[in-house]
Amino acid sequence: MTTSIATPNRRSFLLGTAGLVASAAALRFPTPAIAQAAPFRVGFMLPYSGTFAKLGEFVDAGFRLQVESMGGQLGGRPVEFVNVDDESKPETATDNMNRLVGREKVDVVVGTVHSGVAMAMVKVARDTGTMLVIPNAGVNEATGPMCAPNIFRTSFSNWQVCHPMGKVMHDAGHRRVVTISWRYAAGDQMIGAFKEGFTDAGGEVVEELALPFPEVEFQALITRIATLKPDAVFAFFAGGGAVKFVKDYAAAGLHGQIPLYGSGFLTDGTIEAQGAAANGVRTTLHYADDLDNPANVAFLKAFRDKTGKVGDIYSVQGWDAASLIDVGLKATDGDWSAREAAVAAMRGAKLDSPRGPLSFNKAGNPIQNIYLREVRDGRNAMVEIAEASVDDPARGCRSGA
Ligand code: BEZ
Repeated sequence: MTTSIATPNRRSFLLGTAGLVASAAALRFPTPAIAQAAPFRVGFMLPYSGTFAKLGEFVDAGFRLQVESMGGQLGGRPVEFVNVDDESKPETATDNMNRLVGREKVDVVVGTVHSGVAMAMVKVARDTGTMLVIPNAGVNEATGPMCAPNIFRTSFSNWQVCHPMGKVMHDAGHRRVVTISWRYAAGDQMIGAFKEGFTDAGGEVVEELALPFPEVEFQALITRIATLKPDAVFAFFAGGGAVKFVKDYAAAGLHGQIPLYGSGFLTDGTIEAQGAAANGVRTTLHYADDLDNPANVAFLKAFRDKTGKVGDIYSVQGWDAASLIDVGLKATDGDWSAREAAVAAMRGAKLDSPRGPLSFNKAGNPIQNIYLREVRDGRNAMVEIAEASVDDPARGCRSGA
């Protein structure tokens, strides 16, 4: 676990929880008129190692960049960071989360990438009332049956990014499709959502191939695809696994033979490493590299200036997590204990995100455009809006704000 502090570049006059204790003392003892704001503690629970390491690092970098652009503060309070590497391991997730909430006493947990880890975090957040902002993991339950007023997501639900692709692929003339993914919550739910959209449109999923997370021995499954000869393939992989899958698919000679589609994680943050093997791959996601809105242009420039790297969806989701928390803190003059007011402001937030307009449903899940993208010249270029302002059905959510 590492701790760091974002130093504010201007003085803040707001009181946090610790400041409230100080103000009670001020009734009895003379103190300086201006109190330094209490630091706001952000606990990052993200993968900094393993196949999703780059995804975690980019979420972290996007969040910090936004805090820095706001003068090192959120809602007027200086920010302290505590980082935990969750390694994308569900089995240690509860302990990691309890450490941030209990020992580290963070004000908010920002995490994570992996759906299985997120499920454990959601349970602790519900039990302890800790604010949780999910900057990637799409597990449907977090903003479905497990929804709660203290749980927000600045990313997507697994359903949301994949359902629109069903119609897109059917409209493209594909009728028999094979799916392939990792066998865990995100893979199962993304494939399920795609299948729902595709079969509703009249298509048939002829076989669902899967391997355990985070295995990358794709050869036997790729051979099976070649044998089945479907019209197209729909895939979910991300991070290092996505790099290898796209390269193996091309190396097997299927690139250009059987069109490859997927959720955008297949080619986001991975294009550089995939090289020519990714050209022409079509995906749906709530972001495209070339979105020509002022927020995206400014974000990509700031991200490159700061990190020397090209921003991607993971960094955008981190950036927006910081923006959302800032909304909640500002609404309460920095008093995070005024929970109802903070939650109401966050539920009603309308963010000018690099991804385009971003608002939230009653379960705390984003309402956002889903874009059809195609890899061209090393970029996820927008083809069209696959579906505008997509809301997640939030199935089973009863206790949202
Ligand atoms: C997930 O586990 O929810 C996930 C991981 C990587 C990219 C997208 C989703």
